Amino acid sequence: MFARYKKGNGAKARPAAEPKADAAPAAPAAAAAPAASPKPAAGFRRPTPAKAAVKAAPVDRERKRREKLAEVRIEMHRRLLDSLNLSALEHATEQELKQEIAAICSDGLNELGMVLTKEERQNLHQDLYDEVMGLGPLEPLLKDDTVNDILVNGPHQVFVERAGKLELTDVQFKDERHLLRIIDKIVSAVGRRVDESNPYVDARLKDGSRFNAMIPPIAVDGSLVSIRKFKKEKLSVDDLIRFGAFTEEMAAYLQAAVATRLNIIVSGGTGSGKTTTLNALSSFIDDSERILTIEDTAELQLQQTHVGRMESRPPNVEGKGAVTQRDCLRNALRMRPDRIIVGETRGEEVIDMLQAMNTGHDGSMTTIHANSARDGVSRLENMVAMAGIEMPLKAVRAQIASAVNLIVQASRLQDGSRRMVSITEITGMEGEVISMQEVFRYQRLGLTPDGKILGRFTATGVRSHYAERFKQWGYDLPPSIYEPAKD
Ligand SMILES: Nc1ncnc2c1ncn2[C@@H]1O[C@H](COP(=O)(O)OP(=O)(O)OP(=O)(O)O)[C@@H](O)[C@H]1O
Ligand SMILES: [Mg+2]
Repeated sequence: MFARYKKGNGAKARPAAEPKADAAPAAPAAAAAPAASPKPAAGFRRPTPAKAAVKAAPVDRERKRREKLAEVRIEMHRRLLDSLNLSALEHATEQELKQEIAAICSDGLNELGMVLTKEERQNLHQDLYDEVMGLGPLEPLLKDDTVNDILVNGPHQVFVERAGKLELTDVQFKDERHLLRIIDKIVSAVGRRVDESNPYVDARLKDGSRFNAMIPPIAVDGSLVSIRKFKKEKLSVDDLIRFGAFTEEMAAYLQAAVATRLNIIVSGGTGSGKTTTLNALSSFIDDSERILTIEDTAELQLQQTHVGRMESRPPNVEGKGAVTQRDCLRNALRMRPDRIIVGETRGEEVIDMLQAMNTGHDGSMTTIHANSARDGVSRLENMVAMAGIEMPLKAVRAQIASAVNLIVQASRLQDGSRRMVSITEITGMEGEVISMQEVFRYQRLGLTPDGKILGRFTATGVRSHYAERFKQWGYDLPPSIYEPAKD
């Protein structure tokens, strides 16, 4: 693996003639893809009535059964709430509560004259248990490890993100009140509140998941909830190489960049993998360094020994007690850090971040929300302007150019794959303009019939502006790393 590029591990020993095939994990997919077979004629025609009737019957029966089960669930839930002593619940064991639920259901179903299969009964018991003790309909999604994000748009629409793709689930809340009750349960467990005068909340749950909710009337069609589930196992550099997020060569380059203390910005859209990339890059930091991390919601999981983590705090209900990222950052500068990592720079803290990068905290890193390296720089300029700093644009640009060395662009492509689509170096100023050079990029070559993107990573042929620095620090990358992929 890319271990062969690791410091002192004979980067130079790599024979120049070695085939570059492994430079583009996406490429084999291209070879394996069938020659663009024409899609079957799209089904714009209505199915013939006879076929539809044959097919509709079981589907219809299944739907009716589901509706019936939903009614039963609501009825059982009502009975449960009527008959359970809620205050005694805290002391009940899981076993006791489950037995109680089973008994109430058994009586209720007898009364209704309803017969359930074993599986239906088990699901009903679990749903009711989740309702009383957990987060109701969200519970199975929270337990499902293949789900990354949960997105609720009002009580009757719940999407999840699996492998980069959004899917509509058949999970539903009974009504808006039910959804609000679950939201309330979640936020009150972490000491927050959400109500009409305070209609949105951003919080970190006990398990580390990121939670955001906005309730009516601000949310027009019912409460909006988004949950980014916390993953204990963060993706490592090797995982990301394996998933095709970037190549071994790019990893070797990034390792040199991090180890030689370049200041790095990871840029990308929402959910493009910025935090994951930042976390993976941090693994290249030497264990002897003191690292301070600052985030709005603590997500980073650094492996080093000497790490101080900070989390900003929103104002309380009376509008007091806020501790901003900027406050944390200013304080961090007095805490003798070797490196500072800010989870996401989105506001006035940009000033202190740039200053920190410019004044001896080399090797600092952050992420920003932008669609390209150029766009990222404009975002930084805007943030400086919004922070109320009156500085000529040229001076702002000079600050940025001397603070930031590298912009790594992450992107979630339309087939759900997440890739590092560009690595761009900032090389200085030319007149009023910040000069940049792209060193690696992802080249899109086409689309498979089933909608997967075909492409490959390639170097642009430009030698790194920092090659000499890498060499001086013992990261002598072979020139072949900068050679573009051959056609
Ligand atoms: N290369 C990858 N391959 C597969 N999954 C990935 C990859 N990168 C990130 N993910 C997953 O995608 C989800 C979003 O990633 P991440 O939190 O890093 O995105 P982000 O850009 O920081 O999002 P946000 O804009 O919300 O802060 C996570 O669940 C993460 O595990
Ligand atoms: Mg993030």
